[in-house]
Amino acid sequence: MEKHPLEQIPYVVPRSDLDPPASSHASPSTTTTREEQGERNVNTDEAAQTVRVYGSQDEVYAIVSQVGEGTFGKVYKAHNTLSGNYVALKRIRMEAERDGFPVTAMREIKLLQSLRHNNVVRLNEMMVSNGSVYMVFEYMDHDLTGVLSQNQFVFNDGHLKSLCEQMLAGLAYLHQKGVIHRDIKGSNILINNRGELKLGDFGLARFYQKRRRSDYTNRVITLWYRPPELLLGTTVYGPEVDMWSAGCIMLELFCKKPVFQGNDEIHQLDVIYKVMGTPTLKDWPGLVDMPWYELVKPRESIRSHFREYFKKWMSSAGLDLAEQLLCFDPDQRITATRALETPYFTTEQPRPQLPISLATLDGEWHEFESKRERAKKRRKLESQPESADQ
Ligand SMILES: Nc1ncnc2c1ncn2[C@@H]1O[C@H](COP(=O)(O)OP(=O)(O)OP(=O)(O)O)[C@@H](O)[C@H]1O
Ligand SMILES: [Mg+2]
Repeated sequence: MEKHPLEQIPYVVPRSDLDPPASSHASPSTTTTREEQGERNVNTDEAAQTVRVYGSQDEVYAIVSQVGEGTFGKVYKAHNTLSGNYVALKRIRMEAERDGFPVTAMREIKLLQSLRHNNVVRLNEMMVSNGSVYMVFEYMDHDLTGVLSQNQFVFNDGHLKSLCEQMLAGLAYLHQKGVIHRDIKGSNILINNRGELKLGDFGLARFYQKRRRSDYTNRVITLWYRPPELLLGTTVYGPEVDMWSAGCIMLELFCKKPVFQGNDEIHQLDVIYKVMGTPTLKDWPGLVDMPWYELVKPRESIRSHFREYFKKWMSSAGLDLAEQLLCFDPDQRITATRALETPYFTTEQPRPQLPISLATLDGEWHEFESKRERAKKRRKLESQPESADQ
């Protein structure tokens, strides 16, 4: 007989007699915005009550704060009171599930259990406590969106090269293992105070057939990091989709903000064309075969402004690599392994340098905290009296 999905993964029997009351996990009211919810959660709910979660070898995890609010659950920083180590607990949202354990979470767990690499976040174990299922991860002090939103710590060119190299090494490993990530973006790239970068959030990832190209959904990858072939409707794709996202991240590392910020699929293509120019059939012979090619054909042809725009931030070897990552034709787009062999990494100075001095940065920076800070600032500005000369 087929095993229940949860039985296929090692997890721990609940010790509910020791658990906190279920009410401490109550979801905030749905009438507030996500940012307001985050603030309330940290200040009042779990963090203040030192919720304890109990693991296999008598570990006791004391929740310190909330660090993430995802589509599928909340992420907490927790302290293992026996070992003294910190972990991230990702609680799998079960409330809305009528059909048992969510299949997306199941996929994420199975994938993560098959991966082991310095640049991929480590899933230590699964845990069940008080009816909630938790994924227990090594704790990462920051994520890329968070760390790029602060201006106390400044990355030098060697640091940026190291971050880029680590991201590509993580991707090269995934692709060699036959996994496409399908959601590379700043908040899914985790960084610790030792300057190590690890790819996280495998909620959309999947195994792909190396030889046979399959038919997948094209509604993957957060809009700003989505490659043109997905925006043009293709459902037949491979690991090249992650490489476009990696190109977007590389530029973001240097400019500190996402570079292609579209509002919807059509606008996203426009924004890309304004920087990279419109693709020609010479650059991308398969363009005409894209399902929505006729539908969203650009009205005028634009030349690339890429080098002009980015030369003030990046070296010429850096520009060369970014341009190869942001190549329109997926078949010609550079692979992660080849990207690591380009002059940007092999010959050009400075050498990659782990940003270990991140340890001096005050606070921990995840997208979640940065959003909260922004909301706080906005509220402060709104509550200030208008200036007299207006
Ligand atoms: N191991 C970790 N250590 C520290 N923080 C983490 C860890 N894993 C995740 N986070 C934080 O929690 C956030 C949400 O986690 P994750 O991206 O895995 O969840 P998600 O539910 O899939 O989110 P979404 O679908 O909205 O991208 C991350 O952006 C990151 O800031
Ligand atoms: Mg995420």
